[in-house]
Amino acid sequence: MTIEPIVKVRDVAYPRLQVPDLDQMEVWLMDFGMVRAERRADVLYMRGAGTAPYVHVIHAGPAAFTGFALEAASRDDLDLLAATPGFTPVEDLDGPGGGVRTTVRDPVGLLVEVVHGIAQGAPRGNLDPRPLNMGEAFQRIGAAQRIKAGPSRIKRFGHLALNVPDPMAVLAWYHARFGLIASDRVNLAPGMPVAIFTRCDKGAEPADHHSILFANNMSSGGVSGLNHLSWEVCDIDDVQAGREHLAAKGRTHEWGVGRHLLGSQVFDYWRDPWGQIHEHWTDGDQFNASMPAGDHSIDMGAVSQWGPNMPSSFGRTIPPQTPSRPA
Ligand SMILES: [Fe+2]
Repeated sequence: MTIEPIVKVRDVAYPRLQVPDLDQMEVWLMDFGMVRAERRADVLYMRGAGTAPYVHVIHAGPAAFTGFALEAASRDDLDLLAATPGFTPVEDLDGPGGGVRTTVRDPVGLLVEVVHGIAQGAPRGNLDPRPLNMGEAFQRIGAAQRIKAGPSRIKRFGHLALNVPDPMAVLAWYHARFGLIASDRVNLAPGMPVAIFTRCDKGAEPADHHSILFANNMSSGGVSGLNHLSWEVCDIDDVQAGREHLAAKGRTHEWGVGRHLLGSQVFDYWRDPWGQIHEHWTDGDQFNASMPAGDHSIDMGAVSQWGPNMPSSFGRTIPPQTPSRPA
């Protein structure tokens, strides 16, 4: 891409969902590995075990995905965006940790917030990966490996995937404003991507393989919007132990455990009570801005290197399954 973006964002910060029953969602998210950061009558802030004061924001209302936040490198960057047509003036955020934001509607109508200055706190617990005795690099001598049963340790909100009508056009919009660059494209034919994995341009500093995946909405029945939300957990034991915890709670599994091909993450996907897909992942690829984009044919085969095949339901919102669903 040759257009110089207005700013280059550093990361994603949090998504915003709307659900009819905040109590039910809070319990589900606790099973997923989050804890309440703050609860008001009409909004719930949930945090992980990392330094962010919240990693998920849930509003009361009809079930919907309404938008998400990107993290700007500086307050000056917010001012640059706010001076751009379509963006709102910079205003205070009213969530835990404060901070400021400007907002804009993206081409599919989602509210994109660009935030800065949200105060980080102390981690909620131990975020260290467990020492492993693998290959020739034994890390654990004279100590036993003991995995405490319970929910995953969530480090941070890691990425999201959006279903859009034209991934190339939507990425062009995001690149021009926020500097997102392609990591890998899956092509129906040369120059016709049906999915583009995009990352933040942090120069020489490594970034997650993808912060946003733009997927063609033909696989979601032509419906644009959320494909899935994803949080990074501390290590592989968090993926599997977290899975067992969710299963023990009777939650609805979607896909996993496996290791992705593009991005390489070890992943596991679950559906919330309103059918939105929430992912745990760990051990993803880290690329700096110099890594060229990869091009792959849609015929490349499995999207995982190991693990079960992707279910046909993946990437689209499935209406509530649980008997306790609100009408
Ligand atoms: Fe993902």
